Amino acid sequence: MDAPVRSPSNKSRPAKEKQDLRAWIAGLREAGELQDIKGAEREREIGGIVDIYQRRIGNKAVLFDDIEGHSRGQRILANILTSVRRINITLGLDPDATPTDLIQYWRRYMKEARAIAPVTVQSGPVMENVLTGGDIDIFKIPIPRWHEHDGGYYIGTGDMVIMRDPDTGWINYGAYRVQAQARNAATVMCSKGKHGDLIRRRYHERGEPCPVAVVCGMHPALFMIAGLEIPYGRNEFEAAGGLIGEAVEVISGPRTGLPIPAHAEIAFEGFIHPNVRSANGPAITPADSRKSRRSGLKRSCTATIRSCSALSRAFRPTMIHFIAAPIGPARCGISSKRRVCRKSKASGRIPPAAAGCGSPSRSSSNMPATPSKPD
Ligand SMILES: Cc1cc2nc3c(=O)[nH]c(=O)nc-3n(C[C@H](O)[C@H](O)[C@H](O)COP(=O)(O)O)c2cc1C
Repeated sequence: MDAPVRSPSNKSRPAKEKQDLRAWIAGLREAGELQDIKGAEREREIGGIVDIYQRRIGNKAVLFDDIEGHSRGQRILANILTSVRRINITLGLDPDATPTDLIQYWRRYMKEARAIAPVTVQSGPVMENVLTGGDIDIFKIPIPRWHEHDGGYYIGTGDMVIMRDPDTGWINYGAYRVQAQARNAATVMCSKGKHGDLIRRRYHERGEPCPVAVVCGMHPALFMIAGLEIPYGRNEFEAAGGLIGEAVEVISGPRTGLPIPAHAEIAFEGFIHPNVRSANGPAITPADSRKSRRSGLKRSCTATIRSCSALSRAFRPTMIHFIAAPIGPARCGISSKRRVCRKSKASGRIPPAAAGCGSPSRSSSNMPATPSKPD
């Protein structure tokens, strides 16, 4: 992502603290919650190191820089929400608030279902570099192989995949895994019944391409909402506004018109064309890997995004990050709710809802659960 097509119009725009990943990183550094790691390579070391950090709740978040083969400043941030302190910081709570305080906070949030509509701004930091056509190359971002048996390079799951219902205009975003496939192509895996899958089908049933935007590098509070099953028809940006207590600033994607967080680090947008599928390599978790060795690795067929434009913040001394949230049942509760609950009880792990991942329980929420299953 070197040559900007459109020069930045508002570099001096002040950071919105609650919407800016760089501000969040600075807060973590100040709180002693961040581990810098320099010189790792992306094929084995980054994934391995992240795995070690993720083994225990409370380990620091890790920020990789000087990644082999990539220039300084192309950073990767991982292990973001695996401590109560970091979740507290993300939500603007006292960093030393107790786990019980945190659970009470989430209960209240789920019950009140506060909503603040997003606001569209003319431009924002994410528009500092806009690339189109042959200039797009998502492999310039140092996307790691997270686990040794992964079938490819996953730029999401720590992402927001944004779509719009073709009939109602309802905007939905979710955390779905996205595999980089080519310079300007990626695949997105929305499980059957997930809102992203329902929306994509609506376009494809009429033979139309489905516009989509993928953001990888937003403030973790926005990411928390991506992993929650906000009810059908409700705009996740409104839920995120309710969570952070202010309107999320969005720009209108230059090609799709989809709302993209103005303060994000990286986004790309494009279209999922009907009947264009690509093999999606398996995303293996440490918990899966023994099973997968027995049964052989499965590849699935997933929707292919052809990217038309890629947006990012300026590349100069300041940097591009993307959030990595490698998938794992004991971490985010997306593989088996039951297993996670048991582990939470046994080991004092953070319950998925408190970490902003997994489904809100019916009893603690006035948001009805959607029919989709955990992955
Ligand atoms: C880190 C993380 C990764 C996830 N990966 C996927 C995925 O690859 N595919 C999927 O369908 N759901 C995945 N999920 C679950 C969805 O994000 C979650 O069910 C969310 O509610 C989906 O959005 P929706 O309710 O708007 O469909 C993931 C969740 C998290 C927290």
